[in-house]
Amino acid sequence: MIGVALYGCGTVGSAVAEALATRADGFELRHVVVRDPHRLRTAAVPRALLRTDWRAPLADPGVQVVIEVMGGAEPAGSLIRGALRTGRQVVTANKALIAAAGAELEALAWARGAFLGYEAAVAGAIPVLDALRGPLAANRIRRVAGILNGTTNYILTRMEEDLLDLPAALRQAQELGFAEADPGADLSGRDAAQKLVILARHAFGRWLPLERVRCEGIEAVTGGDIDDALRAGERIRLVAEASLGDDDEVVLEVAPRALPAVHPLAAVRNETNAVAVEGDLCGVVVLAGPGAGGKATASAVYGDLLRAAGSRGRPLAPLRTRHPSPLSTGTDMLPSPIVISS
Ligand code: HSE
Repeated sequence: MIGVALYGCGTVGSAVAEALATRADGFELRHVVVRDPHRLRTAAVPRALLRTDWRAPLADPGVQVVIEVMGGAEPAGSLIRGALRTGRQVVTANKALIAAAGAELEALAWARGAFLGYEAAVAGAIPVLDALRGPLAANRIRRVAGILNGTTNYILTRMEEDLLDLPAALRQAQELGFAEADPGADLSGRDAAQKLVILARHAFGRWLPLERVRCEGIEAVTGGDIDDALRAGERIRLVAEASLGDDDEVVLEVAPRALPAVHPLAAVRNETNAVAVEGDLCGVVVLAGPGAGGKATASAVYGDLLRAAGSRGRPLAPLRTRHPSPLSTGTDMLPSPIVISS
């Protein structure tokens, strides 16, 4: 049996615990760290496993893998560093932390021979990081662009199809468990920007600071903007894009765009995410699927968990820095960001 400590038991943590309880893959859940033990939302976690002290599981030599799905900077950062320093395998869905400290944590994992998996941090169940690192690795990537935030896509879809206003659509997204604890991170585009930084790392082989993302959210999008777009045969979507510009610079941008209805990203509805990867060999590959919610995120967490178990003592090699990609001569994949009326 492989001993597991689970940090966080909210929407995602509960789904992970339920997956662990219903699959016999040789994992033993030994600790579940929560902020408030009175708010346990799943029967899959025996109360005897609950802890509030994040240090306790790291003192247990029976814990080999740590799953962090609590989110936030702390104690997530400290517990992940503590786990990696002691050679534990780590799986996390923490996009804010990985976007801010991914370079340092990857170096630490590599130095300690530990696995650090964060597929769940980007685009929920869509295995896009794995695809860039594996099957698409031969490509010189020119661009990755996608819908990386389920909450805002859900809101835009409900505004478009049910004529809801933004606050009402946000309430629905919160009830469905898609939104961040601070939904401002979804609405402002910050959540998508964090995911874009991680995606760019895998597409272009470099960690770039979050401040490099030109970021505009959907707060100012009105029903009138959506109507205007519909009349023009377009759909408004919050698009995150990383592209290789002049001088091998990676340009990062999150902004609402009016996409022609026939564009592959325009057809993406509700909490679905999609990522289009443009490479010199693969052309444009589009991956789509559930991007938010407990089960979708648990799918990616559990996949990394299986990989962590298989990779013990055999850490994944650091990503190599990719060669600059020659600029494609094809037509642009996306129209420019739209100007939203205020
Ligand atoms: N709040 C995020 C979203 C959760 O809506 O996409 C998944 O990262």
